[in-house]
Amino acid sequence: MRLWAFIGRKLVCKMAMAPKQANLYWNNLQKSNSWHRWSAGATTFHNFNTMQEIQSINIMEKFSMFEKQWTPHIIGELNGQYVKLCKLKDDFVWHSHENEDELFMVFIGTLLMDFRDGRTVEVKEGEILIVPKGVEHRPHTNGELVFNLLFEPKETLHTGNAVDEKTVTNLAWI
Ligand code: NI
Repeated sequence: MRLWAFIGRKLVCKMAMAPKQANLYWNNLQKSNSWHRWSAGATTFHNFNTMQEIQSINIMEKFSMFEKQWTPHIIGELNGQYVKLCKLKDDFVWHSHENEDELFMVFIGTLLMDFRDGRTVEVKEGEILIVPKGVEHRPHTNGELVFNLLFEPKETLHTGNAVDEKTVTNLAWI
């Protein structure tokens, strides 16, 4: 009887300790990186392929992958839009985009944007310009090669309503 009482007491003692230890373990686990990794992975487990695709994109590295001017290359997509890179030099065609606003972001050089009211807006390195839909514009550069990032709906043609020999319809992913 005494033996069973002893074992019983030990057992109760252990059982009482167990939740405390479990709590401590749980708290430490939640503080650890492995928990964050695990919980982040678990919540998106249903979309594991997407998780594998999430990685940073080096813009300058992407610019080094093509030379052709006035030919946008796609580096990403989100919310029905493409993120495109384009190297620009000299003149482009006058055009407008009936339904889409267009974002230009300059990484190297100075982009010049002509408007029909006679203004030319300078977009320097680190600056952006948003051309509202329907507004006619003509990008050009002062002889220098300009590295530009564009942000446009997937269906946007870079030459807008003006389809000419510069128009590229099948954009390459890089
Ligand atoms: Ni445009």
